[in-house]
Amino acid sequence: MQRVFIETYGCQMNVADSELMAGVLERAGMSLADRPEDADAVILNTCAIREHAEQRVLGRLGEFARLKRARPGLVVGVAGCMAQHLRKRLLDTEARVLDLVVGPDGYRNLPDLLRRAAGEPVAHVRLDRDETYGDLEPKRGDGVRAWITVQRGCDKFCTYCVVPYTRGRERSLSLGELLRQVRDAVAHGYREIVFLGQTVNSFHDGTHDFADLLRATDQVEGLLRIRFTSPHPSDMTPRVIAAIAECEKVCPQVHLPLQSASDPVLQAMRRTYTLAQYREVVAALRSAIPGLALSTDIIVGFPGETEQDFERTFAYLREARYDSAFLFKYSARPDTKSFLWPETVTEAEKGTRLERLIALQLSISAERNDEWLGRDVDVLVEGPARRGEGQLYGRSPQFKAVVFPNDGTPRGELRRVRVVGATSNTLLAVRSPRDAERPAPALVSIG
Ligand code: 5AD
Ligand code: SF4
Repeated sequence: MQRVFIETYGCQMNVADSELMAGVLERAGMSLADRPEDADAVILNTCAIREHAEQRVLGRLGEFARLKRARPGLVVGVAGCMAQHLRKRLLDTEARVLDLVVGPDGYRNLPDLLRRAAGEPVAHVRLDRDETYGDLEPKRGDGVRAWITVQRGCDKFCTYCVVPYTRGRERSLSLGELLRQVRDAVAHGYREIVFLGQTVNSFHDGTHDFADLLRATDQVEGLLRIRFTSPHPSDMTPRVIAAIAECEKVCPQVHLPLQSASDPVLQAMRRTYTLAQYREVVAALRSAIPGLALSTDIIVGFPGETEQDFERTFAYLREARYDSAFLFKYSARPDTKSFLWPETVTEAEKGTRLERLIALQLSISAERNDEWLGRDVDVLVEGPARRGEGQLYGRSPQFKAVVFPNDGTPRGELRRVRVVGATSNTLLAVRSPRDAERPAPALVSIG
């Protein structure tokens, strides 16, 4: 067992977990393959949040079944939330292709599990109340941004959500372990870190809370930017808001999942806040953090969501003026509480509600981006833009994608540019005339 190909589905937490697995494998003398065709083992790191996510993986397993017919020795593994969710059942239903099922708390022994799986089907799906992998070094991808998991699991048990069942109980790494990881990432050239946790602002290591973590990280030399995702509205304490506002490196960008703007639905979802409380958090964030970019998650068609409930969400989306929003149709997940509740909104109606929210948010996102026209932003340069010859790409403090003419700024450096055009997801910029060293470019007005 030498070369392993890892394919990642789902959220950033899974991306970070794949980097963790890569680190564990390398330490055991294995290496990563770029393509499944070159690998002795393939691992799909999966998501279970909605049914669609699982269906995609099952489809992909079909492709690996074909590859395996040509190469019977290939070890095929499923890791992550779907592995934990379906457990041994997955080995039974996918017996023709699957050798290994490993849940989110089984990665420490991955090399051993892979070797055993070459002989007989193996499942490691025990959740562990203490495992944080705090002592392990991930192998990170290229780029300017390092993902750092501060907490694993979730104790909130929102009634629709499978995560508490797939990732187990909430546990935090220690502040010391995290600062070591941040310094290590900076030493490896990363300029921005993103703290990850299912409810990242409920981080607590017994002594320090999330505000302490932000303030300590803000002091790390060589680091330019700090972001985090996803906070829970109920854990957005005045202490945390003050830390976000006061720490120079913490970016003015918060992703604050709302889910619904109707109190009865929020209560049925067990979200632990009312719309009025959520509004207060937004107001506190906006008054403390000038230029804050705010984004959210919303679910339509939760069991019992009436037309009137939905209209409240629609109205609040217009009121909140999020910079962006991830909008989902409710998907009933086995094991969750709401799985047992009869669905009251048809798929067609969910589709209609979703379309209405998407159309509204698209126009708001475009308006929000238009507000940047003529203003200067500091871009942390990530490299050449994928589209657009001769353009560089990076992110503003608000996490807006910005493209501007390639002036040779290396990856990982900050460049001040002036926004001259905007779409609903990208800002177009030119070199800022206020940037002293070089002559000012002509300003073009677009739109
Ligand atoms: N159906 C639809 N969306 C869901 N989410 C979580 N569980 C479900 C579900 N069962 C959404 C929530 C969460 C985001 C990560 O995924 O909006 O914030
Ligand atoms: Fe799921 Fe709720 Fe936990 Fe988020 S806070 S992971 S939605 S249970």
